[in-house]
Amino acid sequence: MRLSRYFLPVLKENPAEAQIVSHRYMLRAGMIKQQAAGIYSWLPLGYRVLKRIEQIVHEEQARAGHIPLLMPTLQPADLWRESGRYDDYGQEMLRITDRQKREMLYGPTNEEMITDIFRSHVSSYKDLPLTLYHIQWKFRDEMRPRFGVMRGREFLMKDGYNFDVDKAAALHAYNRHMVSYLRTYERMGLTAIPMRADSGPIGGDDTHEFLVLAATGESEVFYDSAVTELKLGSREVDYDDREAVAAVCAEFTTLYARTDETHDAALFETIPEERRKSARGIEVGQIFYFGTKYSEAMGATVVTPDGSRVPVEMGSHGIGVSRLLGAIIEANHDDKGIIWPEGVTPFAVGIVNLKQGDTATDSACAALYQALTAKGLEPLYDDRDERAGAKFATMDLIGLPWRITVGPRGLGNGVVELTSRRTGVSEEMSLEMAVDRVVQIYAEIA
Ligand SMILES: Nc1ncnc2c1ncn2[C@@H]1O[C@H](COP(=O)(O)OP(=O)(O)O)[C@@H](O)[C@H]1O
Ligand SMILES: [Mg+2]
Repeated sequence: MRLSRYFLPVLKENPAEAQIVSHRYMLRAGMIKQQAAGIYSWLPLGYRVLKRIEQIVHEEQARAGHIPLLMPTLQPADLWRESGRYDDYGQEMLRITDRQKREMLYGPTNEEMITDIFRSHVSSYKDLPLTLYHIQWKFRDEMRPRFGVMRGREFLMKDGYNFDVDKAAALHAYNRHMVSYLRTYERMGLTAIPMRADSGPIGGDDTHEFLVLAATGESEVFYDSAVTELKLGSREVDYDDREAVAAVCAEFTTLYARTDETHDAALFETIPEERRKSARGIEVGQIFYFGTKYSEAMGATVVTPDGSRVPVEMGSHGIGVSRLLGAIIEANHDDKGIIWPEGVTPFAVGIVNLKQGDTATDSACAALYQALTAKGLEPLYDDRDERAGAKFATMDLIGLPWRITVGPRGLGNGVVELTSRRTGVSEEMSLEMAVDRVVQIYAEIA
C-alpha cells in the first residue's frame, strides 16, 4: 500500500474525549471513528488489525477442531422467552419491533439461537462432540460505554458453544477452549492469564476469565507473579488427548490467579510475599461450563449409547475480538504511539522514502516494495512529499514493528536502515539484507 493513495486520517491533537492511551492512539492513528456512544466505524487501518485478530482466532479454533458458522445479529424475542432470559436481561438488551409488530432483539449473545440450531438437526450421541462458533457483532446497551472499543455497546465477539454427551466430555471441551485461547492470545503478543471467575447465578465453578494486566483494566486481580512466566510457546498439543489437554490447563491454573469476585485472602496469604501481586486487568475472554441449563429449558436432547435420551451438555466460550485491539495497545505502546506485535500488525513493515522525487531513492523504494511483496509481506510505503520528521512521526504513531528508511546518502554507501519500533535500534545494511531480515522475522512467528 502506498500511503499517498491510502485513507489514514491521523489526528495531530489528542482527542479530548479519550481517557486512556489505547482509545487516544486508535483515534489519533485514524483506526476508528465514533458514530454514537459506544458505536464505531472501523477505518481502514483499524479494520486491518481487526481482520488480523479474527484470522488468528479462526486458525486456532480450527486447530482445536471447532467449526465456524454465522448467526444473524437480529433474533426473535420468542427464542429468549423459551430460556426465560427475555425478561431477565433487562435494559442491556436492545429491543426492536419490526413492521409486522414482531418483537426482535439485537443479540447480546447466542446461547438460545445455537441451542435452537442444535435441536433442529442433532438427536444422537453419534453426532457428538460438536463445537460451533461464530465471530459476530453483539449489542449490549451498556450504562457507561467508555474507553473506546474497550467497553462498547456494539462490539465484535467470538462466541463458541460446545455440545457433548456427558459432563466429562463437556469438561474436555472446556479445557480445549482454554488451551486454544492461551495459544490465540500468545500469537497476538499478549500474556492473558486464566483466572478463576465467578459463575454468578448459574452455579458451579467451571468458569475462567482471561486477563491482560494493564493499569487501565476494569478488573481488580490478585495473582502469584510466577503465573506471568508461563508460556505455551510452540509446543504441539493433541486436542483429542483428554489427559494432555487437562495437563496444560492444570499447568496454567494451579498458581493463584483470581479476580476480586473470587479472591480468597487467606489462600492468597500462603504465597511467598515477594510473589504476591495485586493489579488491574482487562478481560479479553471467558470460558464457561454450564451443563444443561439451556438444553433442558429448550428441549435439546440426544440419545445416548444405552438408548436413553438426555439433555445435551453445553458450555459457552467468548473472546472480545474488538476489545482486543484496545488491550493489545494498552500492553504495547510508548509516548510516540502504538507498537504492534508482529502477529497482529496492520502492515509488516513501513518504507520511508527520505527524498521523494529523487530518481535513485524512488526506484530503490520501488524495488524494496517489490521484493517484500514477492515474499508475501505487505509493506506500507510512505511515498508522500513530506519532511522526514513528519514521516517518522506517522510511522511511530501507527506502530508498524519494522521500518526501512531509504535515502540518497545511505544509497550512496549501498545501504538502507532497518529500525525496530520496539527498541528504537537502527542498523544499516544492504537492501537485500533488510528484506531477508524482515522475511525471517515474520517466518519465525508464522
Ligand atoms: N461492552 C463490551 N465491549 C467490548 N467487549 C466486550 C464487551 N462486553 C464483553 N466484551 C468482551 O466479550 C467477552 C465475552 O463476553 P462476556 O464474558 O459474555 O461479557 P461480560 O464479562 O461483560 O459478561 C468478554 O471477555 C470481553 O472481552
Ligand atoms: Mg465475561
